[in-house]
Amino acid sequence: MAKNDWYKKMTVYQIWTRSFCDSNGDGIGDLPGVLSKLDYIKSLGVDAIWFSPIYPTPNADYGYDISDYKNINSEYGTLDDFKKILDGAHERGMKVIMDLVVNHTSDEHEWFKQSAQSKDNPYHDYYFWRKGKDKKPPNNWLSMFEGNAWEYNEKLDEYYLHIFAKKQPDLNMDNPKVREEVKDIMRFWLDMGVDGFREDVITFISKDEGLPNGIPLPVGTGIEHYKHGPHLDEYLSEFRHDVLDNYDCFTVGEAPMMTPETALPFIGEGENQKLDMMFHFQHMEADNMINDWIKMPFSLVKLKHAFSNWQNKLYGKAWNALYIENHDHARIINRYGNVNYRTESGKMLAAMYMLQCGTPFIYQGQEIGMTNMNLKSVTECKDVSTFNNERVFKKLGMSDKAFMKLVNSVSRENSRTPVQWNSENNAGFTSGTPWFKINDNYKEVNVENEENDPNSLLNFYRKLIKFRKENDVVLYGKYKEFYPMSNSLYVYERKYRDSKLLVICSFKEKSVRFKAPEGYDLSKGELVLNNYSDNKIVNNGFMTKPYEVRVYLF
Ligand code: NOJ
Repeated sequence: MAKNDWYKKMTVYQIWTRSFCDSNGDGIGDLPGVLSKLDYIKSLGVDAIWFSPIYPTPNADYGYDISDYKNINSEYGTLDDFKKILDGAHERGMKVIMDLVVNHTSDEHEWFKQSAQSKDNPYHDYYFWRKGKDKKPPNNWLSMFEGNAWEYNEKLDEYYLHIFAKKQPDLNMDNPKVREEVKDIMRFWLDMGVDGFREDVITFISKDEGLPNGIPLPVGTGIEHYKHGPHLDEYLSEFRHDVLDNYDCFTVGEAPMMTPETALPFIGEGENQKLDMMFHFQHMEADNMINDWIKMPFSLVKLKHAFSNWQNKLYGKAWNALYIENHDHARIINRYGNVNYRTESGKMLAAMYMLQCGTPFIYQGQEIGMTNMNLKSVTECKDVSTFNNERVFKKLGMSDKAFMKLVNSVSRENSRTPVQWNSENNAGFTSGTPWFKINDNYKEVNVENEENDPNSLLNFYRKLIKFRKENDVVLYGKYKEFYPMSNSLYVYERKYRDSKLLVICSFKEKSVRFKAPEGYDLSKGELVLNNYSDNKIVNNGFMTKPYEVRVYLF
């Protein structure tokens, strides 16, 4: 089948179902809840929904630990509920993509249970079972979540590999039977009518032969042996040729540690393309080192460098996946914006990333400017990665108070709180007791308030999505950055045929002088998007207001 490229025109909305909308009062978001909000989602102007995993799971990592790939988590509903959403979305002209988590399963998946039965069980080789060395694990790899990457099984006197939590054993993709299982899962959902996959840490699925020791790191030791391993290309090609090419679908692969150079062999357009897009992490590292928990002061120069590098190196060769939030990061307004200018900085950040070349993804709550939490104690926390970091930071002598400050600033808890629909009880998320604390600011920050205000962030997102769709310069224009060393302003141009777009973003509260780049006469441009009503131009420039954004079309 000829390769489609409809995904290039799309904007995608990500749903983390547990916290989206609860229909039955059990305090947990569910699929009928999503169904009831399809019109809202459509009203944003988005073209697709990506569901974070909604399969049966023991919830060690809220669905990223799957115990049955071909069913729906009963907390969320049934396959029939899912089919209703699929139909409802399709009727409204929206696509639906599923999260494909095949680097690992849950330890409660039948394959793993079988594999742990005996060494000659046919499923034993579905996972990485290895003998220890001198009563120690087979190598020095550390997990991303829970200390050592190996868990000992006394009965077998063997260890199994888990790059994430110990309840997430890694699948052995070198086993052709495992790859057949993956293809079977893909076909199951594609045959049902889903339109593609977001593929969880898909670049980790091939491990170096012999699983050699890694260079010691505080977390994730060994990563150089699987970050894009020896058979990744081969396995992704196999999935593409045997399955994906037979459907009109698209894929976006999660790809930690990728650079444009390492990504291009996988997403470069043409015969050998394996994935349509990748979620890289480089622009999410402008306020940290190694991972979100190792905080650094925000650097706009670093942020711009990451974005520009991907924009420039992929242009005409591959397609970017654009995002600034998802279920794995704290809320962006707290990170790169300013909560005291929630709406203004929220708009600026939205325009900053969505007007670049690529397919934008929006995470639930991002469109109404939801912000970080104020959790008081670890007992209120829910995430395995918080619990692991608690052990790490307490060992280093961090106090409870300092740790909670860190949690409320960097943890994944922040993005997983229930969506705030209105100012009623429990923010309209549930009529019961919510499974997780609702942000104290829900009376002010909620969908209803945003709907009622024509100048809200929500309505700005709508404008932005519409503008992108209607203007080829946003879809296809070439990107060029100005003033790359400025620590206050992010200014870039998009150019397509005879039209040009100039995007001017201030990352500062204080006023900064913006002067139009050479060749631009601002008075000749049409101001198409902005976040303040006063838009005077003085000497072909202006003094910025806090977190101001202006977008001129020429
Ligand atoms: C990436 C997912 O986005 C994250 O939520 C999860 O914990 C890990 N992969 C492991 O599946």
